[in-house]
Amino acid sequence: MNTTETAASVTPLFSGETIRNRVAELGAAISEDFRNLGTAEPLFLITILKGAFVFAADLARCITVPCTFDFLSASSYGAAKISSGSVTLRHSLSVANRHVLLIEDIVDTGLTLQHITDELSKQQPASLGICTLLDKPAARKHPVRIAYTGFSIPDRFVFGYGIDYGEHYRQLPFIGFFDT
Ligand code: IMP
Repeated sequence: MNTTETAASVTPLFSGETIRNRVAELGAAISEDFRNLGTAEPLFLITILKGAFVFAADLARCITVPCTFDFLSASSYGAAKISSGSVTLRHSLSVANRHVLLIEDIVDTGLTLQHITDELSKQQPASLGICTLLDKPAARKHPVRIAYTGFSIPDRFVFGYGIDYGEHYRQLPFIGFFDT
């Protein structure tokens, strides 16, 4: 992985404005679907770290129904608190009887979200949905049901807007790729 490449050589895929407009549409759709929830039964937005942190922050400000927030860290390696197969989840979330919406950056093979939904489903949430900024359907190996998708993209490595390339480029205000 060559991290000496500069942001100037990045080919944009989605501009900041395109992302902003789509995130607003997603927020409106989520707000409409959960319009009956009140403060006694808020929507529980669980952001999957690290890649979804920018998306979640923008999306949250486009959602008009009552929400609470928490975060979940998933990795395919490392010390386990809760481990499911090859994906490790670090969380102490209580989702029983809650309306939960998972906020993800990219669904690639689907392995990460399949493990997260399997794990959280054991607590019997009232509902459990997935909102992903990007989807790579051609890379799917594990079926996951996605309720809200920002953009479907080809099976190539992208970064920016919170998504990393070897922990770099998360701060880019757009999403792009190295056209090598
Ligand atoms: P999955 O478990 O194969 O669906 O992988 C999902 C995770 O892999 C995402 O949450 C990202 O962290 C990472 N990932 C997948 N594709 C990309 C990419 O193009 N750029 C950066 N990270 C990616």
